[in-house]
Amino acid sequence: MDLELTEAQRETRDLARKFARERLEQIGVEIDRTHRFPAEAIAELGKLGLLGVFIPEEYGGSGLDNVAYALAIEELSVECASTAVIVSAHSSLGCWPILGTGDEGQKRRYLPKMATGEWLGCFALTEPQAGSDAAGQRTRAVLDGDSYVINGSKNFITNGPEAGVCIVFAMTEPDRGHHGISAFIAETSTPGFAVTHVEDKMGIHGAHSAALAFSDMRIPRENLLMREGEGFKIAMKTLDGGRIGIAAQAVGIGRAALEASLKYSQERVAFGRPISSNQAIQWKLADMAVEIDAARLLTLRAAALKDAGQNCTKQSAMAKLFASEAAMKAATEAVQIHGGYGYTKEFKAERYFRDAKITEIYEGTSEIQRLVIAGQMLRNG
Ligand code: CAA
Repeated sequence: MDLELTEAQRETRDLARKFARERLEQIGVEIDRTHRFPAEAIAELGKLGLLGVFIPEEYGGSGLDNVAYALAIEELSVECASTAVIVSAHSSLGCWPILGTGDEGQKRRYLPKMATGEWLGCFALTEPQAGSDAAGQRTRAVLDGDSYVINGSKNFITNGPEAGVCIVFAMTEPDRGHHGISAFIAETSTPGFAVTHVEDKMGIHGAHSAALAFSDMRIPRENLLMREGEGFKIAMKTLDGGRIGIAAQAVGIGRAALEASLKYSQERVAFGRPISSNQAIQWKLADMAVEIDAARLLTLRAAALKDAGQNCTKQSAMAKLFASEAAMKAATEAVQIHGGYGYTKEFKAERYFRDAKITEIYEGTSEIQRLVIAGQMLRNG
């Protein structure tokens, strides 16, 4: 098994690391306070090719792979988990369905503008009553002449307010359960699309999670992805990849919590010596390091499988489950190691704690990941 990164993967990781250290450190602190969307950082990431890492060059992307993408998301997450999830939702959930399931015309129309960030992507699957039960869609799409007319509402949609392109899921045949769901590429400038609410969240304040309303929104017939009834499978395949992005985000947040804890524990003196000289602290640091390393390996394995064109449903769910729980544990320990200061806004530990929590929830809760993993084992061994 080759654990060495290629030169292109290393270069992508180093580019993202440099950008994160130079541009995101301050922005990460500021947008956590102001809840501002980091538009300038996203524009710069577009110029650097980090909004289209796995999009082939012929469609305007960087022509790299999912391993490079995961490494980039980890680096961005160390300094700013909001920016990282904006990039991850755009890439995995906005761009991938077009790249992986779209026809040539759809790829040519959308991917070049998405690779540069001119159009940001979002993924409108979740509805107020259809979260974990993604098949319970109520949004309707009815074919009328050359267009589908969409009516319904979605919520918790990352990038909803800023997206130019929205992958929207809707029932075309409500009697057929998940076989009646179809997926469409919607341009958000189309009449009938509206952002109705932006959530006030615990963390990732710079990434906006919105409720969307679709009111007689007309989408050209050619914007249907694949065929009618394929929407649920498109959503599931998309999430197989999306979970790699969230796993990478969790690895980055966990690493940030560990790095802050290492630094603080060597500086903070109690009972006449740095607290890092205490076994109680060393054991915490060691456990954090082991779990974050293991999480990274699971994440890169899932990304490598996806790059090899193999099914990665189980492996991406494992990576997301393990990495998000490792990030939450690392962030909790980081607050503890920082003591009273860890509970204040003076240090970043409390932000890591708030930002880590969502990785156990979005793109499928930890409970759903366990169901996916067990389901795969029971089906395939
Ligand atoms: N790839 C391809 N097909 C798949 C698949 C996959 N990974 N997983 C399931 N399918 C197919 C099955 O083969 C089956 O096909 P057939 O009926 O033709 O045999 C069909 O889909 C239904 O499968 P299940 O019976 O397993 O489906 P289910 O209704 O029991 O649900 C679930 C399965 C895993 C619970 C699924 O609903 C799920 O993943 N839920 C979580 C949803 C989720 O992650 N939401 C997050 C939204 S995005 C977000 O959070 C971020 C944002 O920005 C909005």
